[in-house]
Amino acid sequence: MTAKSPEEYPADIKHDLNDIEAQKSVPSKRTWIKKALSLSFQVGLFCYLLVNILSYSFSSSSHRDRSQATATELAYLKTLDDSNLAGNWSEKLTSVPHLAGKGIELVNWTASKFEEYGLKTEVEAFDIYMNYPVDNGLTLLQEDEPVFKANLTEDHLPEDSTTGGDDLVPAFHGYSASGNVTAEFVYVNYGSKEDFELLEEHGVPLKGKIAIVRYGRIFRGLKVKFAQDAGCVGVLIYSDPGDDFFQEAKGDKPYPKGPARNPSSLQRGSVQFLSQFPGDPTTPGRPSQGDDVVRDDPYKSIPKIPSLPISFKEVKPILEKLNGHGVKGSSIGGDHWVGNLPGFEYWTGPNSKYSLNLYNEQKYDIVPIHNVYGILEGYDSKSGYILVGNHRDAWIKGGASDPNSGTAAMLEMARSLHELTKNGWKPRRTIKFASWDGEEYALLGSTEFGEKNANELKKNLLAYLNVDVAVGGRQLKIASSPFLNKAIKEALPLIEYPLEENVTLHDHFFNHTNIGILGSGSDYTVFLEHLGIASLDLGFSATAKDPVYHYHSNYDSFHWMATMQDPGFKLHNAVAKLFGTIALRLSEDKIINSKVSDYSTELTKYYKHIQESVPEQWLNITNHRGTPLSKLIHKTSKKLDKLVSSADYFDEYLTDLNKQWEDKNSLPWWRRIKLHFQIVHVNFKLFYLERNFLHEEGLKGRPWFKHVVFASGKNTGYEGFALPGLKEALDDKDVKDFIHWNKIFLHTIKRLAHEFDLKK
Ligand SMILES: *[C@@H]1O[C@H](CO)[C@@H](O)[C@H](O)[C@H]1NC(C)=O
Ligand SMILES: *[C@@H]1O[C@H](CO)[C@@H](O)[C@H](O)[C@H]1NC(C)=O
Ligand SMILES: *[C@@H]1O[C@H](CO)[C@@H](O)[C@H](O)[C@H]1NC(C)=O
Ligand SMILES: *[C@@H]1O[C@H](CO)[C@@H](O)[C@H](O)[C@H]1NC(C)=O
Ligand SMILES: *[C@@H]1O[C@H](CO)[C@@H](O)[C@H](O)[C@H]1NC(C)=O
Ligand SMILES: *[C@@H]1O[C@H](CO)[C@@H](O)[C@H](O)[C@H]1NC(C)=O
Ligand SMILES: *[C@@H]1O[C@H](CO)[C@@H](O)[C@H](O)[C@H]1NC(C)=O
Repeated sequence: MTAKSPEEYPADIKHDLNDIEAQKSVPSKRTWIKKALSLSFQVGLFCYLLVNILSYSFSSSSHRDRSQATATELAYLKTLDDSNLAGNWSEKLTSVPHLAGKGIELVNWTASKFEEYGLKTEVEAFDIYMNYPVDNGLTLLQEDEPVFKANLTEDHLPEDSTTGGDDLVPAFHGYSASGNVTAEFVYVNYGSKEDFELLEEHGVPLKGKIAIVRYGRIFRGLKVKFAQDAGCVGVLIYSDPGDDFFQEAKGDKPYPKGPARNPSSLQRGSVQFLSQFPGDPTTPGRPSQGDDVVRDDPYKSIPKIPSLPISFKEVKPILEKLNGHGVKGSSIGGDHWVGNLPGFEYWTGPNSKYSLNLYNEQKYDIVPIHNVYGILEGYDSKSGYILVGNHRDAWIKGGASDPNSGTAAMLEMARSLHELTKNGWKPRRTIKFASWDGEEYALLGSTEFGEKNANELKKNLLAYLNVDVAVGGRQLKIASSPFLNKAIKEALPLIEYPLEENVTLHDHFFNHTNIGILGSGSDYTVFLEHLGIASLDLGFSATAKDPVYHYHSNYDSFHWMATMQDPGFKLHNAVAKLFGTIALRLSEDKIINSKVSDYSTELTKYYKHIQESVPEQWLNITNHRGTPLSKLIHKTSKKLDKLVSSADYFDEYLTDLNKQWEDKNSLPWWRRIKLHFQIVHVNFKLFYLERNFLHEEGLKGRPWFKHVVFASGKNTGYEGFALPGLKEALDDKDVKDFIHWNKIFLHTIKRLAHEFDLKK
């Protein structure tokens, strides 16, 4: 963690804090009068105050019930109740090309939409090292004779227009290596690190083989990484019907007739090694823009072996050839190693009679990608801003769910905010919108943007709100930094869950699940995990029992969305309402709307969980000063207790300040000045709370990830872990690392406990 230097603060905070930072406790009247008098010599500040005080007395002072929508929120929600254009945007977005770097028509359309909604609009390009597919092929050979050739195409369905035409995106993987390999093949289950370790233990030959992996459990790029590490020469990844709730084998009809997976569907996607670092693989930590970009060897974060996605229909005749060869999956890992592909008995192989020729031709180049930004200027321009983002690129011609449901919801949000501005309304804090390009390949647009503007964002960005798949199922899921829990919890009860009468989003959400931990796999990654900016991600997802969501397949289409997933686009509408209400809860309050105890409670929970997993025999092991681990853990827990009590007290103080703020008109002028500085003081602490978690050296072996509380798992990619340094040390059975990360965590907690201790 780096200490904040003064130039990292927003202008007004810096200005006021030169004098205020020294005020460590709630000051007495007398000190404040003296302070105010001395400050009044600073002309600029004096004027600023004057304006503030005057404006206070013009505002109304009715008491606010935080469980009710404000007038602004009511008006915002009413626009979205009265009209819902999400379906219109969805239809448009799914009808124009939008593979990363390829959708200039959509760039322009998005920009014109932002302009139409009154946003100050800008398009920015980055120059990215990336691939496009040229050709592919997959042939099963029996003693060198071709016996089956896979199509690697998805069936065209006449009723679903974006599943046909000559502009379909071929079956390929982003950042896949070109190659033409012929080899025997083996089944490697989900291709996790543990799966490969089990295969080695059972003596299954992997070197020089093609690995056939099923989708699921971990990010696909890591499947290819582990296969490459094991010496495999190529990878096929298929979707196993055994991983779906609805299955033809259980009598369910496949899409488009029913809820089961279409047998020809296949999942495109990136095979970049997401948990190493996202963004352009040749420029880790640096923006890929301009003529003098220094580019590294990309193979730290992308594979050297070719891979292809395949449908279960087409992998079936291949996998069947492994029956009776190698080791039976069930004897390696029980049910966990067995899917439900008809005809395949889940043997590992290889079968020396059969081999595969896997051919993959990719064209690599430096390609421009385009982000579109739109700004809704706030009236308190120095109070920081809120960034709302979604990606625009998709793997497929349609992509109604991923990401166009998110874009449709985001446009609806912009439209409704624009309606508010027609009556002269402006947000307090500026609200910015971003339509990212290249998310699918490696979170490209957002990561390059974050790397380019790192200092400015750390200074001025209060929160990043991400939506990606807004509608892919019917269950609302939210993952967030605890910093934003309060705004989320306040917004949820204000919105109806459209699929059940008289049920709010709050009840729908909290009766089934809870706010989750952010990992990776979408554009919040750079903001939270590289820059330490509070972020959230939300949307309706498929639960285990929802109709199969054809992720990154041609069947993620407008037709599917409009007829099966969200007829009437009501869930889209609910996301627009929720997203905007959360943004308003963050933008409108004078005092930043957060509760420090939400963070301290979560931190305590995470640490307790870690603590319970520490092996007994570690507890006596000492650090370099001779202190045993048991004592270090005890000390950390005590420090957490202290943080919890400081945070509770701080939150009470915030409540009190909020009350005073609402009653400001009845306060004498000098109390208003005092209140102003008290608010500046707490806002400063809140604004930079999340930044306290940055550890400049980053996580072990992946310095790009700098957040000590949240990261994606290094062996899973998507899934988020709390306290990754400690968690990985436990996983690696490395007590020295554990002690090291405990020290870093203890320092962080100490700093926070000090920062939020108002009694000191
Ligand atoms: C939205 O779509 C509906 C139904 O197709 C159409 O009647 C309406 O005119 C469209 N509205 C806009 C603003 O595009
Ligand atoms: C997109 O907009 C740019 C700049 O306004 C323009 O030069 C270009 O021709 C447009 N392209 C398309 C495909 O509309
Ligand atoms: C390959 O495609 C052709 C034409 O689209 C189709 O007739 C054939 O059944 C497909 N083969 C397989 C194995 O799916
Ligand atoms: C792939 O390599 C094989 C020989 O191993 C060759 O016969 C075949 O033509 C190659 N395929 C392509 C598309 O180059
Ligand atoms: C929903 O609420 C309305 C108004 O309170 C009531 O009339 C209606 O019966 C309720 N519906 C259900 C299904 O509870
Ligand atoms: C949520 O749980 C509460 C309490 O158990 C119950 O009263 C309510 O009906 C539930 N709502 C939904 C939407 O399940
Ligand atoms: C740790 O040390 C104490 C005191 O030296 C001893 O009684 C205890 O058995 C040790 N525990 C372990 C797990 O080694």
